[in-house]
Amino acid sequence: MTFHWEKTNKRTHWCGKVTSDFNGKHIVLNGWVKGLRDHGHLLFVDIRDESGVVQVTFDTQDSKWRQTKHLHYDCIVAVKGQVKKRPENMQNKKIKTGEWEVIPQEMYILASAKTAPFRQGDIVSEDLALKYRYLDFRRQTELKQNLKIRHEVLQIIRQELSIQGFCEIETPILYRSTPEGARDYLVPSRNQRGSFYALPQSPQILKQILMIAGWEKYFQMARCFRDEDLRSNRQPEFTQLDLEMSFVDEEDIKSITENLIKKIWKTVKKETLSEIPVLSYQESLDRFGTDKPDLRNPLELKIIDSKTVKNSGLKVLSTALEEGYIAKALFIPNMSFSRRKSENLQKMVQSMGTGRLLWIQKKEGEFKSPVKKWTTDKILENLYEQGGGKGEGVCFVSCGETSIVNTVFSQLISHFGKEQNLIDKSKTKFIWITDFPYFCFDPGIKKWTALHHPFSLPGKEDIRLLDDKSNQNLSSIKARAYDLVCNGHELAGGSLRIFEPELQKKIFSVLGLSEEQIKEQFGFFLEALSYGAPPHGGIAWGIERLIMLLTDSDNIRDVMAFPKSTSGSCLMSKAPSAVPEENLTELGLSIDKKERGIS
Ligand code: AMO
Repeated sequence: MTFHWEKTNKRTHWCGKVTSDFNGKHIVLNGWVKGLRDHGHLLFVDIRDESGVVQVTFDTQDSKWRQTKHLHYDCIVAVKGQVKKRPENMQNKKIKTGEWEVIPQEMYILASAKTAPFRQGDIVSEDLALKYRYLDFRRQTELKQNLKIRHEVLQIIRQELSIQGFCEIETPILYRSTPEGARDYLVPSRNQRGSFYALPQSPQILKQILMIAGWEKYFQMARCFRDEDLRSNRQPEFTQLDLEMSFVDEEDIKSITENLIKKIWKTVKKETLSEIPVLSYQESLDRFGTDKPDLRNPLELKIIDSKTVKNSGLKVLSTALEEGYIAKALFIPNMSFSRRKSENLQKMVQSMGTGRLLWIQKKEGEFKSPVKKWTTDKILENLYEQGGGKGEGVCFVSCGETSIVNTVFSQLISHFGKEQNLIDKSKTKFIWITDFPYFCFDPGIKKWTALHHPFSLPGKEDIRLLDDKSNQNLSSIKARAYDLVCNGHELAGGSLRIFEPELQKKIFSVLGLSEEQIKEQFGFFLEALSYGAPPHGGIAWGIERLIMLLTDSDNIRDVMAFPKSTSGSCLMSKAPSAVPEENLTELGLSIDKKERGIS
């Protein structure tokens, strides 16, 4: 059956808004059939549109409603009818329109629908839900709600920043590489065969050039692209609120960010946030093993002094310390512990690169530990107390290479926080992390890399250390960078920027770029800096992470319209996909047949 969409069939009222105001009125509804209940001579049909649902009651004894036999779940209809109050015993107080029904005069089926692979309430695999994302939206009203909140938040940001004199400026997507630590997505050029655009990992260089151009307050809802492993809060394509300002310091950027965050939380969550505290990178690692601590979780680490470790006589700890590593401990109060739990934990920490996790339990005044027979109660007590142990509970101690010990313990903090129900989910806990090291050594490639990006200003006192050709002091150079962390997620990151070309060049060369490479990759930027760059700085927020936090979502996919699967594919359209040979030829490309699985 085909039906042509007529003007007279256009909606006059929303389904979800049919209330007493419309009693007796003649209205037109447009929407999807979301329920069919056949009660002999009465057929109850629920019609749903974006606003909600309302019941249309057909008297099927009337021959004109013979056509209702064509109605089925998900087909799309236009109904003209009159609003009436339902008889008392037929009312459904659970829904907004439950006291009302529409008695139809005309009904048109605008589009029929195949039987959907799943319905509301079904348990559906993630892959199937992503393949039929449009049906998932119809089914899961929370998904739609999340996107509405996203829309609302973007409006607040645009409005607030505009009031403060910021100008929204779009920067190109077809561009060249902007180093943010991930791989680039490349786009081949047809006109210049063999050359590629890179999709921006962020608009970092461009926003700095806008400052050089004389803009003093820029922002953008910027699409960013990063080819990196996906996680529950990471997608290859995402949106940043990117902003930059001239003639500012850290406090200016933090204050703009905090005020905006407070406004958003107040409007969307009706929550008044207090001032955001600050923690140095080092203190965060010492106390939580990570620079993204979840401060709703009360668990904290303690550093065990090396004397205690040496005197313990416990080889599992002391041999590690002799290698110059670190010993740390985590105390979980009132926790019951079993051999099975211990075995599971050992497996978990071994997969993270250490086998040196020791536990000491205090129960009914006695210490229990797998090393009890090799040591004394006094030593166990000393380790327990240094590890923060008070009263009954379990103290975990580990010793080894600092980054591994920190990784293990940060995972344990999160694991036990959840397991022991210690995380107060009703709270929102923000924290600024500052004083980041500028560089970190990547043992894989045996090179120094920038922990954030190479455009941050080094600490004032640290700049001279860059002249040391031996690179011995690189690890002590700090960046004037700041991250905003919320409930264990890195929500935003930014810094003050280098505005002198010579200093910028020096950073590139410390990172191992030759004169030629610097000129080739960043010559245009260094040249721009040489025409007079104001002191400037900025920040970028992850919009998806912001919406995850506002909607209490555990997965970034729940706040995006068309997210990618874990393997980076769009399961609905099957992107990425092969392209016809002639497209490749046009671009001067050819694919290694082995790569395509063609022998
Ligand atoms: P950074 O790389 O820290 O800084 O990114 C800023 C914020 O973007 C979000 N984000 C992501 N969100 C989802 N999926 C991803 N793959 C992803 N990667 C990052 C995070 C992060 O805090 N140019 C600098 C900013 C600056 O210095 O002004 C930058 O991009 O929420």
